Amino acid sequence: MRILGIESSCDDTACAVVEDGERILSNVVSSQDKLHERFGGIVPEIACRAHIENILPVMQQALDDAGLDFSAVDAVAVTMTPGLIGALLVGLASAKAVSWALDLPLIAVNHLEAHVYGAWLSGEEPALPAVSLVASGGHTVLYLTEGPLSHRVLGSTTDDAAGEAFDKVANVLKLGFPGGPAIERAARSGDPEAVRLPRAWLDRDTLDFSFSGVKTAVLYHCLGQNASRRDMERAAYTPQFVADVAASFQEAVVEVLAGKTRLAAEKTGASGVILGGGVGANNALRQRLLSELSPLGLPVVLTPPELCGDNAAMVAGLAYHLHAAGRTAPLSVEARP
Ligand code: KG4
Ligand code: ZN
Repeated sequence: MRILGIESSCDDTACAVVEDGERILSNVVSSQDKLHERFGGIVPEIACRAHIENILPVMQQALDDAGLDFSAVDAVAVTMTPGLIGALLVGLASAKAVSWALDLPLIAVNHLEAHVYGAWLSGEEPALPAVSLVASGGHTVLYLTEGPLSHRVLGSTTDDAAGEAFDKVANVLKLGFPGGPAIERAARSGDPEAVRLPRAWLDRDTLDFSFSGVKTAVLYHCLGQNASRRDMERAAYTPQFVADVAASFQEAVVEVLAGKTRLAAEKTGASGVILGGGVGANNALRQRLLSELSPLGLPVVLTPPELCGDNAAMVAGLAYHLHAAGRTAPLSVEARP
């Protein structure tokens, strides 16, 4: 079964064709990074407008790359929650139009569950039940995953998402947007112990996260406590200072993400661990998860780095299982931010 997937929940316009939930025939992502860069973050109105311009060419490209036309597509899947409402609506309206015009089943997908499905697209079968860590720009969640369609929330962030903290710290360090890859690059020549930064374990027992404290600690370390926006603009750092702060910040975030994932595995007696979401591409996090979990003998399935960020292959892949379970959506289905 060939499913055309559509993803537009945030700032990437993406379409893909996936066969039987596992073979990626095409996977096109049109990034809007250049549009949002000068604002240091995603501007929802700009994202929506760009989705409108991009969605049809991206869909056509996904079909072309797969060497197919619409007649070879068996169903259309789309992210319907969570995300920026205007952005979600562009993908959803497009998917409904395809579904209605071609009389194809419509499948509505949860973006975070699609990120978990990225692990299945690695070709490895995750050991279940698994603790799944999804760390992205909008969310940081731990699930207990019993299968592609079964996820129970164990914990989530009480303030900033992990990726959001990367983006904001990159902004302070003038590393550009998106911040995650830039921090990872800068951190390579830095000392992770150069700056003492707080680790928000919260109550040791909870599986919730908090990243606003470490973000603020970086801001104070770089600019002092009463810095204005102008001070931030005027600041000039040496490359070594930037590298050391980036490495120390990355270490603080990775330590908590991996530590809480291990705690979740211990508490639930899970058989395996899954990593997904944009921050899941971070190599320090990938390595730390493996080293935290190997003493427990738990297999870790890492979403391939190129499928960690937003894409529609994960949407079309998960949709195969929803369709098989009879969970198609009516044309009246609504987007939920
Ligand atoms: O999953 P995603 O593409 O979009 C959302 O659903 O939010 O995640 C985007 C986030 C951004 O905050 C970006 O800075 C972060 O993932 N990210 C990274 C890396 N690559 C992307 N964070 C840390 N290290 C990376 N290599
Ligand atoms: Zn995402």
